[in-house]
This record gives sequence, C-alpha cells and structure tokens, in this order.
Amino acid sequence: MKALVLAGGSGTRLRPITHTSAKQLVPLANKPILFYVLEAIAAAGIREVGMIVGDTAAEVEEAVGTGDRFGLAVTYIRQDEPRGLAHCVLIAREFLGDEPFVMYLGDNFLVGGIGEFVEEFESTGVNAQILLRRVPDPQQFGVAILGDDDQVVGLVEKPKDPPSDLALVGVYVFDTTIHEAVRAIEPSWRGELEITDAIQWLFDHGHAVRAYETTGEWIDTGKKDDMLEANRVVLESIEGDVEGDVDDKSQLLGRVVIAAGARIESSVVRGPAIIGAGTVVRGSYVGPYTSIGNDCEIVESEIEHSIVLEGSTITGIRRIDESLIGRNVAVGRSDGQPVAYRLLLGDHSNVGIV
Ligand code: TTP
Repeated sequence: MKALVLAGGSGTRLRPITHTSAKQLVPLANKPILFYVLEAIAAAGIREVGMIVGDTAAEVEEAVGTGDRFGLAVTYIRQDEPRGLAHCVLIAREFLGDEPFVMYLGDNFLVGGIGEFVEEFESTGVNAQILLRRVPDPQQFGVAILGDDDQVVGLVEKPKDPPSDLALVGVYVFDTTIHEAVRAIEPSWRGELEITDAIQWLFDHGHAVRAYETTGEWIDTGKKDDMLEANRVVLESIEGDVEGDVDDKSQLLGRVVIAAGARIESSVVRGPAIIGAGTVVRGSYVGPYTSIGNDCEIVESEIEHSIVLEGSTITGIRRIDESLIGRNVAVGRSDGQPVAYRLLLGDHSNVGIV
C-alpha cells in the first residue's frame, strides 16, 4: 500500500495567507496540518508517499524533506496547475505502479487516524473505499448515496436536496482500476478532473465501491473559521508543558505549552494554549484555544481563539478574537493625528473593526 498526498491546489478560500504560502502548512497547535496527515499515514503502516505539489512546491519540500522524520519516503510529483483531484491520480501513475493506495487531501484534518479504514479495505477486497462522515449541513459537501451492504451507489456534489447526510471526507483507498477511471472521464464544468466523476465511473462499470463511516472529528480546513475550529480540536487534547521562562508576575491557568526559549512576563495565559519558541508575551492576556507561533511578540494585548503565525507582533490591542494572523505581521496602535486606522493590507485581507 502506498499513499498519495495532495498538497498542491490554489487555496483561494484562504487568501491572503495562501498568496505567499501553502495552506497545508498552516499550523494547528504550532504544527502544520500536513504533518498530522503524514503522521496518520505512517501510523497506518504505509512507508511510500507520493506528494502532489504545485506553486508552493519549494515551501512544502523544505518543510517535509525526505519524509525521514515521519518514517516515510516521500517522492514529490509536480502538478503544473490545480487540474483536479483525479488529475493528481493521473500524473502519479508511474509512482503508484500497480499497488493500491490511500489518497489523502493535505488540508483535511481527521481525528482518529486511518488504520482501521485501510485494514477494512484490505479485508473486503473492493476496488475503492471512501471515508464518510455524518454532517449537519450536507448541502456544503460531496454526499454519498448508499445501497445494501455499505456499497456506494451514487455521489452528488453540494446537493440542494441531500439524499443522505454522509459527506465525503478527503480520504480514499483505490486499487488499480482507478487509473482506468481517471483516463476515461472528462473535465467538469469548472475545468477540473473530478475524483467524484472517477468514482462514479467505477460503479457505473461494475466495480465495487464501499463506504466506511467515521465518527471521528473531521475538518476540511479550507477557510479561516475551519482552521480555528481544527486548532481548537487539537488544543483540546494537548498536555501542559512549560519549558520556557515564566516570571513570578505571570499566571498559567489550565493546560498551557510554553516552548523552550519563550518568555512570559507579567501576563496571564489561560489554556488550552500554546506559545512557540522565541516568543515574548509581555503585559498581556492569552486566552483559550490560542496558538502563538515562534518568534512572535505579544505586548500589552489580549488575544484568544486565534492562530498567530511566526514572526508576528501584536502591540497594545484589546482584544483580538477568532483571528488568523499570518507570518511577520505587525498589528499595533498608531498615536499620530488625526485619530484614524492606518492599514497596510495585502490583497484579499479581511479586517473587522468596531
Ligand atoms: P481544494 O481545497 O478542493 O482546492 P484548492 O486547494 O484549490 O482550494 P480553494 O478551493 O480554496 O481554492 O483541494 C483539496 C486539497 O487537494 C488541497 O490540499 C489542495 C489539493 N489539490 C491538489 O493538490 N491539486 C489539485 O488539482 C486540487 C484541485 C487540489
């Protein structure tokens, strides 16, 4: 069994973060989403991973490297444009050879791993297996229609009138019949080779596609609020660990991780929260479900339910809530006249002001 991880794409829903960096590398509790994906693959006993990369190839390759540290051997496969999930299978043909493989979307966050999912595929001998999760709002997702015996008999994309509440999670297992399917289908109205069309082709041609329902938490982290929710889920299960310096005027409440080299001065950090290496928190309040990356400065400010990426500075702001702040961002007060907001924002930035 091999794995195909999709870490290309354009990430339009997460702009401006994705103007400059890969959405699969946005951290949850200071660890990139993609690393959770790779850990789940390694834990399922898979060693060989093909990684689809696009415009952000250099950044992804720098972060993941050979895959060694996950116990994986990673081969990078360059996709010239995001031409669809089935196109990723098409261009990975040589890497995949004649082995079955798990296809895992690199921006999907799934609790509970894929071990049982893979075992089930191996024991049933079907041609494809798709991971499903019950959702309250199936209109937003690809939805499966099941027949007898967990066989999938149809898929509908974002249905107005959903035939079930079983959404397609971004994890699949395929045997070699999928290669025929991705060659046979045509691009959709949006110009992409859709994996749902390839799966539809499989059952239209008499191949067995099986559903596997997970009850584990799953978040497709395409948008800011999903990212914050996934960050909340990860922080919910962290253990407290204080390696950095905390002065005696500060208070840590609940489960808090302070990385080595971080400094907390005259501040309150209420967990679950994580503060990265080299970061200084001074005269501030860091509230629950907040991840502050490495080498940041939080000074005379209050922040909670937020993710701050490395190298950013927040000074004199009360209070920041439900925010995703990119790398090397400066948020501060301006004392000049006239009293006004002075902004330097990238394309597609999103600011809420009271
Ligand atoms: P999506 O989130 O469906 O697409 P996207 O990355 O283009 O994002 P947006 O909708 O915000 O513009 O992609 C799911 C995952 O698959 C994601 O990790 C990117 C990856 N992907 C590829 O590697 N190649 C592709 O051709 C596509 C469409 C996605």
